[in-house]
Amino acid sequence: MSTERDEALARTERLVLREVRSHDLSVLERMWQDPVMRRHLGGPVSDEVVAERRVGDHTGGLMVTRSSGEFVGWCHLGRYRTGDLELSYVFLPEWWGRGYAREASAAAIGLAFDRFPDAPRLIAVAQEANVRSVRLLEALGMVRVDTFEEFAARQVMYAIDRPQAASGA
Ligand SMILES: CC(C)(COP(=O)(O)OP(=O)(O)OC[C@H]1O[C@@H](n2cnc3c(N)ncnc32)[C@H](O)[C@@H]1OP(=O)(O)O)[C@@H](O)C(=O)NCCC(=O)NCCS
Repeated sequence: MSTERDEALARTERLVLREVRSHDLSVLERMWQDPVMRRHLGGPVSDEVVAERRVGDHTGGLMVTRSSGEFVGWCHLGRYRTGDLELSYVFLPEWWGRGYAREASAAAIGLAFDRFPDAPRLIAVAQEANVRSVRLLEALGMVRVDTFEEFAARQVMYAIDRPQAASGA
């Protein structure tokens, strides 16, 4: 029988990152509809969108659990419209403020550069008002490269290039 441990794509001091599995959907649904987690992501999504996402493609999604198994968050590795590798993430509010998002995102960046050896950089986009997310991106060593208006909000784009990631800057 497989265990959380065999399915790990990456492990950090306190966390395990693994692919999304069907039994994760209940926690993902909470993330899609919780007003606190969705505050800077356009608000809770509708029941119709949740129904579509339930049967949708979860490729690129990484579930983040503590080593003891509790679910703490989700990271995603995808492609932004520019073609850049893009990192996104949502963590459950009860686990905020413990450095888990930072620890998981650093591991996800490492995975992204391993999976896509030709990618020169990885980006992330956040609303400028999303202070926790901006602090996280800066703590990860990412650098602000653009600001623009979208979805009626000021958006900031951060980037980290491959040499920076490799040196752990
Ligand atoms: C954005 C988000 C992931 C940030 O979560 P977070 O828990 O604040 O981020 P971190 O993991 O970097 O934690 C940093 C905090 O942990 C503290 N911390 C405690 N122990 C720590 C440790 N061992 N290592 C590092 N930091 C630690 C830091 O001091 C910092 O505290 P502060 O918030 O008082 O400054 C979270 O707010 C979230 O999921 N929001 C909703 C979804 C969202 O907006 N996603 C982003 C869309 S762009």
